Amino acid sequence: MKTSTKKLLDRLRNAEKIRVLFVCLGNICRSPAAEALMLDSVERHGDNWRWEIDSAGIGSWHIGQLADKRMRVHAQRRGYTLTHRARQVSPIDFERFDLIIAMDAQNESDLHDIAPSPEACDRIVRMNEFVDMTTRYDYIPDPYYEGAEGFELVLDLLENGTENLHRILTE
Ligand code: 4NP
Repeated sequence: MKTSTKKLLDRLRNAEKIRVLFVCLGNICRSPAAEALMLDSVERHGDNWRWEIDSAGIGSWHIGQLADKRMRVHAQRRGYTLTHRARQVSPIDFERFDLIIAMDAQNESDLHDIAPSPEACDRIVRMNEFVDMTTRYDYIPDPYYEGAEGFELVLDLLENGTENLHRILTE
């Protein structure tokens, strides 16, 4: 983990409010799922008042749409209801959120291009920094062209990562 990321997490541990934005390519599979799982985590831990959680996409293709039906079905089976409507990430998000979490290396690189300043870049972190389950992936793989297994894998990785993120910022 980069020193700037460690410093950011240390600062957030003491913050009154923690504002997190999850980002993927389309904002219809991975990031709305991450948002719903993170919301579930903070509600289970009883500190939802402290968190502001949202998601957005690099691309504009799906603006206004609910998450992909397959992701909604797989998530619902685990008890998570996805209600987010897709939106595109914007430079203003770097003022509105403390932590901007990218699902893969391309998202991360695109976010660096969108960030309005070098300081804003320090808010970008990869989701897999928080994933510690045994996996061969060092990113959250795009399930869009995969079958059911791809969606289940994303949910496994995100359940692990969001729970760890909550623990890291509240322990
Ligand atoms: P996501 O998946 O980035 O996890 O939302 C995708 C959804 C749609 C597209 C790409 C990725 N697309 O190209 O339409």
